[in-house]
Amino acid sequence: MTKALTPLIAGNWKMNKTVPEARALAREIRQGLSPSRGVEVAVAPPYTALAAVADEIAGSPIKLAAQEVFWEKQGAYTGAISPLMLTDVGCHYVIIGHSERRQYFGETDETVNRKVKAALEAGLFPIVCVGETLEQREQGRTFAVVEKQIRQGLAALAPGQGERLVIAYEPVWAIGTGKTATPDQAQEVHKLIRGLLPEVAGAADLRILYGGSVTPDNAGELMGQPDINGALVGGASLKAASFLGIINAAG
Ligand code: PGA
Repeated sequence: MTKALTPLIAGNWKMNKTVPEARALAREIRQGLSPSRGVEVAVAPPYTALAAVADEIAGSPIKLAAQEVFWEKQGAYTGAISPLMLTDVGCHYVIIGHSERRQYFGETDETVNRKVKAALEAGLFPIVCVGETLEQREQGRTFAVVEKQIRQGLAALAPGQGERLVIAYEPVWAIGTGKTATPDQAQEVHKLIRGLLPEVAGAADLRILYGGSVTPDNAGELMGQPDINGALVGGASLKAASFLGIINAAG
């Protein structure tokens, strides 16, 4: 049933790319994309390059994503960007709760929840990230940690809103380390998340992406798992060849 979902491959560029570099990468991805592979593609440049990348991908099937958002609509919040500003610049998706935001910027399940609600209200499609640390995995707490992140991050959504969510399972120990979760390790957590979604989000058929050292070489096997519906790609999304390789492996 879940395999009927169109896979989503999203590139998280993190704090990389000047405006000219971002334009060049977006152009290369656009030019290299083979039509009708049945894979949805999104790119998440840094804020400073959102407008330029929106311009480069205009008229293509590539969707624009932001890496972060604040929950307030406007006002005296120096340095923050509102959901409205993201829709205004052409964003479709917004990544919320990435482990680097949790680790370096004080993101909690509560702030994730506020951001998810504000993003949904503004018409954005949140990509909500969850995942355990190595220590938590070694202590056998993976399921408990992920379940708490899902329950609290997605608490009390308005009816119908949950259908617009994408979930990304990203084990923290696999992000940027070259250590990918095995397809079985990923699948068992994806299955857990899938089982929680009807109750928590009011929808079972959401896409659940895997993230953490995805490459063109391991993408096919990961995507072959029944509850893995795409990938959130960091390092390998910074070069068109490897990002396109992952897209092709998913299609
Ligand atoms: P990585 O990052 O692909 O470089 O491991 C994934 C992510 O942080 O989304």
